[in-house]
Amino acid sequence: MPENPQPASSDSNYKGIILAGGAGRRLLPLTHGVSKQLMPVYDKPMIHYPLSTLMLAGIRDILVITTPRDQAAFESFLGDGSQWGISLKYAVQQEPKGIAQAFLIAENFIAGDPVSLILGDNIFYAEGLAEKLTVAAKRTQGATIFGYYVTDPERYGVVSFDASGNVSDIVEKPEKPVSHYAVTGLYFYDHQVVEIARALSPSARGELEITDVNRAYLERDQLAVEILGRGTAWLDTGTHDSLLDAAIFVRVIEKRQGLKIACPEEVAYRMGFITDEALEQLAADFGDSGYARYLMAALREER
Ligand code: G1P
Repeated sequence: MPENPQPASSDSNYKGIILAGGAGRRLLPLTHGVSKQLMPVYDKPMIHYPLSTLMLAGIRDILVITTPRDQAAFESFLGDGSQWGISLKYAVQQEPKGIAQAFLIAENFIAGDPVSLILGDNIFYAEGLAEKLTVAAKRTQGATIFGYYVTDPERYGVVSFDASGNVSDIVEKPEKPVSHYAVTGLYFYDHQVVEIARALSPSARGELEITDVNRAYLERDQLAVEILGRGTAWLDTGTHDSLLDAAIFVRVIEKRQGLKIACPEEVAYRMGFITDEALEQLAADFGDSGYARYLMAALREER
């Protein structure tokens, strides 16, 4: 079996949230009529990448939060998830009031379970990522977030460490970052997250900050920060340049290996969410296309 993607585990008891709200202003005029997260990243829509990341963590019960304008498009595009052996539900963020607002919107969906949230424009690709995700998705207490070394930490939440390597602080978009470690847009939280989000006040930019949620876990001494090291690609796709860079990255890897990044049908199959017959049917639905041939090849390889 190829290394990408590698099934890592059975199901998790975590719920999942994909946050695909936001106006996508930096991508205008592309986003004038279409959501950023439905834009192509090379050969598939952007949302397939975060969706596949959650699926690789073994998460099958997922809420997609969108703008009011785009909800119908996401629903008609992704459906109820049954084709991939998962459940997809939808909710609306009326206005972009911060990432942490997702937990308030999703309170009934979360229903006291642990939950993983991923930003709809974040792309993760790494050897061994599925195993790391599985570990996070098995932790039942506290929070797990991921740190990634970047050249421009001031654009992100930044995590700093003390001399013994323990997390000492997390600051949102610091003017003078004290480390190069950005906090990525993938978070795992236990049942406390809704209560923590409810107690937050909006920041100076008028948002409920995910960094404040992480700080609350840090204060409770319940925050694990996993480092995504060299050999990991964490790409965001919020500008024309970063969108094109991400597409080129995906194209280079896929052409070189003949293996797709973030193919939900393949991930569902390799994770054991769907049967051989279901994959065959999905391939048939794609007709005479390269995508259908790719799915059939994945099936043949397993058989
Ligand atoms: C948000 C978070 C930030 C995090 C980043 C990851 O930034 O606030 O902590 O590092 O996502 O993409 P924003 O997209 O709001 O600028």
